Amino acid sequence: MRRWLLVLPLSLCWTLAVATDAPRLFQQHCAACHGKDRLGGTGPALVPENLSRLDPAKAARVIDKGRAATQMPAFGDRLHAGEILALAHWIFTPPGRSLAWGTDAMGASHKVFRTPAQLPSAPVFKADPLNLFVVVESGDHHVTVLDGDRFEPLARLPTHRAVHGGPKFSPDGRFVYIASRDGWIQKLDLWSLQYVAEIRAGINTRNLAVSGDGRWVLVGNYLPHTLVVLDALDLRPVRVIPVRTGGKGSRVSAVYTAYPRHAFIAALKDIPEVWEIPYGGAQPPGGGIRRIHSDVFLDDFLFDPGYRHLLAASQDGRTEVIDLDSGKGIARLQLPGMPHLASGITWDYRGRPVIATPNLKQGVVSVIDTTTWQVIKRIPTLGPGFFMRSHEDTPYAWTDVFFGPDRDAIHVIDKATLKIVKTLRPAPGRTAAHVEFTRDGRYALVSVWAMDGALVVYDARTLKEVKRLPMVKPSGKYNVYNKITRSRGTSH
Ligand code: HEC
Repeated sequence: MRRWLLVLPLSLCWTLAVATDAPRLFQQHCAACHGKDRLGGTGPALVPENLSRLDPAKAARVIDKGRAATQMPAFGDRLHAGEILALAHWIFTPPGRSLAWGTDAMGASHKVFRTPAQLPSAPVFKADPLNLFVVVESGDHHVTVLDGDRFEPLARLPTHRAVHGGPKFSPDGRFVYIASRDGWIQKLDLWSLQYVAEIRAGINTRNLAVSGDGRWVLVGNYLPHTLVVLDALDLRPVRVIPVRTGGKGSRVSAVYTAYPRHAFIAALKDIPEVWEIPYGGAQPPGGGIRRIHSDVFLDDFLFDPGYRHLLAASQDGRTEVIDLDSGKGIARLQLPGMPHLASGITWDYRGRPVIATPNLKQGVVSVIDTTTWQVIKRIPTLGPGFFMRSHEDTPYAWTDVFFGPDRDAIHVIDKATLKIVKTLRPAPGRTAAHVEFTRDGRYALVSVWAMDGALVVYDARTLKEVKRLPMVKPSGKYNVYNKITRSRGTSH
């Protein structure tokens, strides 16, 4: 009986959906923002592969009511219920041909705003250009460039929707590359505080990496199944690498640069492989890819301090250590829950390099000895965490409690004793997250993750607040110097 109740309205919807001409409605009302072919534009791609967070009922609600504080309008007054349902179902049908986003589509989206000759030869401000922070304000899709000495904003610039994965810097720290979930890549000149170029390199993008020689940007996509090489100078697309093995395609979980290896490393989500993609030759990267077998489907990974080993975590919670030289798995780690390796950090504890990682599912920070690959300490926290940060010149490692009733808490852990020495609550009752240090490690910046949120600056020694700047849902913040010197206290 219950089943019938569920099935009947759905099939009714379906009848309505077929009776209404959804493709025509789409072209008339939606294509301007979501693309003629549903592959996205101002708005995200509306194809089943990109709608995993929704179902037709939820989509119908979005179409009816719109999304507050975004460009998605409400159609409840323009379309009747049957038309809205028809559209909501139709966007979950396959688009009819395989999803492609090749160099033609990319080329059409490519814009160069400033050539190198049009850029100034010195910064247009007085602040230390290596102690700037790029703060992503996800609430209204902006980045703020912050002077890291005075904690004053120098500029606030719009980004594309849903910036995703940390922005990455050119090796000299002058330029920053920003990726959005809808595939947009933007290049920002921090000296003149203006955009240099942009391109849409995918339909749904995970993140990007910049080669150690600064010449190439590698973009890892969920959709289509590609890696895209861009010229770092002007973001011109130079190569599309299909991600497939033996006829099976895969989403890319993440791409990072393994600097001493002069290679990019790509983790694949649907094929149990890690790809090593060398750069530095006469040709753009993409040739001579080394495919390393892995026992797990990689969701997330982290290098050890020497970039010789990869710690790889899978969605089902397994963690493997892969030796990049031999291409072999050498250890399995017993980590509870779901480690968030991408934000793990390293330091020396009793003379040995350790890796510490927060955990997305359990209130625990795991500390791993990288010489034995044993977990030497599990530090209980008030709830699952998302980010962990430290700095060479500070005695503490900071971690957030991102989930649960204590998500307003930030734990400060003594790196010498592996004990929590203080728990801060920058804004009681509101999510506190993502710490990043100034160039000299003297100050720690914490986000209050809310639309009327803030960036809270702490003295990293006394743990006292020194300044609070209002920000719109600030998510990550990235210090130029710590990133380009690959500080062990932050991810790169
Ligand atoms: C003026 C531009 C614009 C128009 C016109 C528009 N949309 Fe949107 N739409 C957006 C934007 C931008 C978003 C993303 C909102 C956000 O940030 O969550 C969005 C989001 C959506 C989502 C949610 C997608 C997700 O993954 O959460 C659906 C579904 C959707 N739109 C359907 C439609 C349909 C159907 C139409 C036509 C009837 C339409 N939209 C017309 C801009 C537009």
